[in-house]
Amino acid sequence: MTDGRQWDITVVGGANTDYMVRGPELPAPGTSVVGDVFIEAPGGKGVNQAAAAARLGSHVALVARVGGDARGQAVIDGLVADGVDTRFIYRDPDLITGVALIQVAHRGEKQILIAPGANHALTLQDVRVAAPAITGAALVVAQLEVPLDAVLEAGRLTQEAGAQMALDVSPPRTLPRELLRRLDLVRGNTREAETLTGVRVTDRASARAAAERMISWGARIAVVQAGDAGDLVLRGEDEVWLPRILLEGVDATGAGDTFMAAIATALVEGWPLERAGRFASVAAALATTVFGARAGLPRRAAVLELLDSFDARADVR
Ligand code: RIB
Repeated sequence: MTDGRQWDITVVGGANTDYMVRGPELPAPGTSVVGDVFIEAPGGKGVNQAAAAARLGSHVALVARVGGDARGQAVIDGLVADGVDTRFIYRDPDLITGVALIQVAHRGEKQILIAPGANHALTLQDVRVAAPAITGAALVVAQLEVPLDAVLEAGRLTQEAGAQMALDVSPPRTLPRELLRRLDLVRGNTREAETLTGVRVTDRASARAAAERMISWGARIAVVQAGDAGDLVLRGEDEVWLPRILLEGVDATGAGDTFMAAIATALVEGWPLERAGRFASVAAALATTVFGARAGLPRRAAVLELLDSFDARADVR
């Protein structure tokens, strides 16, 4: 725990049940494809990030809304099993828990169709009720699967408490400057960075231009995950490029969530920026080696072991 605060990280975000099918290819519109693997598991970016941060060693709370259905209870039970504080997960008897239908092709392409259900009913008032978890955390982490009003309120409370806030621009959208000014860290992949900044990210130069724009709007650290170009972490003029780590990947669902949870955990622990970024890259790469977002969220020991082995190799510096 940091600064005598009660939580290292409080996540404000989405909760779903993921229904995932893997098959030889994604069905084209109007066609069907027979798949070979199916899993059902708790997911959603808020749930994934909270569970990942807990598995990586942080003391975590989640602010979210699920339905009164059995799937909502399963989401909560899974988080409890990972040691996440679930006191600020609200249950809505009239709404379904969010659903994500995820299709993954053998070559790794995927598509996701979401029914937000109770996620879209998370209100500004819910966030106010959860104020103790927000003002009592060293870092608040949010994404955009819940209404913007809720995220804005989390930003206001975080600033009043003198805590830090990180935002994942996922799913992608533009954001008010009022929020960007409050962010200590903002993260996006190529598409998310482009939607936010208007800069088409195709290489290192354009990734840097997008990150500079995020910083010019007030974010302290910008992270742009630029695919084959690697991951850029920019803090002022301090530019760190993290090489893409290639493991035997089977499914990237949840890898971005893992990256966010890992860099958040490392920054709360006071790690230097480059090492925090490397920890996050290794964690995200590990997440791609297992089918399923939840199943792939790695544990701290595995990430540190792989990080150490890369530290010993000159070719991945
Ligand atoms: O980031 C992965 C997540 O996106 C999945 O778990 C799914 O629920 C969607 O929200």
